[in-house]
Amino acid sequence: MFRELDKPLDIIEILEGVHHLPIGRRIKYYDKVGSTNDIAYHLAEGGEEEGTIVIADEQTAGKGRQDRKWSSARFKGIYLSIILRPEVEALSSPRFTMMASVGIVKAIEDVARLKAEIKWPNDIMLGTKKVGGILAEIKLVENFVKFAVLGIGINVNHLDTDFPTEIASLSTSLLMESTLAVSREQLVIKLLSHLSTFYPMALQKDFSPLIAQWKELCPCHNGCMVTVKNGSLTYRGITRGVTNIGELMIEMESGERVTLALGDLSIIPGDTKCF
Ligand code: BTN
Repeated sequence: MFRELDKPLDIIEILEGVHHLPIGRRIKYYDKVGSTNDIAYHLAEGGEEEGTIVIADEQTAGKGRQDRKWSSARFKGIYLSIILRPEVEALSSPRFTMMASVGIVKAIEDVARLKAEIKWPNDIMLGTKKVGGILAEIKLVENFVKFAVLGIGINVNHLDTDFPTEIASLSTSLLMESTLAVSREQLVIKLLSHLSTFYPMALQKDFSPLIAQWKELCPCHNGCMVTVKNGSLTYRGITRGVTNIGELMIEMESGERVTLALGDLSIIPGDTKCF
């Protein structure tokens, strides 16, 4: 079943949809790679221009946040990395991940008619299961961004059995949630067209219009009981919004507030507001 979906990406179809866009006009396609982020990073080091994307049908060493693996079954998902060269300070870099999160949610809605949500900092969820994620790797020079590689993974045509057993119960795909057959090509086209619209907004000093959209799509950012694991520390409390650079504020049971730039967030069971 669904074998007809197991075919290589039609790069011509993608190029026809994105050749006019600032993000995606140059595409480097691979059948199989270790990690598209590693290839994009290497290209960016060599001077590759902004807007180039690296995309593959399979990754053998797909990388997730916090040194995790990103399971990248052949022909099943979207595995792509975008090279950006924003002229901004290091402190501004989380906004590019936020921009990518909003773009992914909107592309999923356009193509699969599903309402995904963002789980801070950069998970894309369908209900309580993860359908996508973003890994931003940033090269800094003297506190400024030299380039950013924005790696995006979306589970599209996966069945339960396509995920490693340890993450199968936590993961889902568009095929598993939707009644529509989703074209990976159309999803890439929509994603890159949203990102081409959002990128100039993310470059503005006042990035609040994009933060406002991110907040709408991330219900757990305010008023949810959560735990956040950050290194060896775990914080438990109520989320109290995000700062203007995307850090999460948490009010702990003691009344003390912490502001976190990174971490693994879990909703405390029983809190139904967030998902
Ligand atoms: C996460 O949620 O932990 C981030 C996952 C990011 C996965 C994508 S797939 C394309 C790109 N290449 C990689 O090796 N990782 C990112």
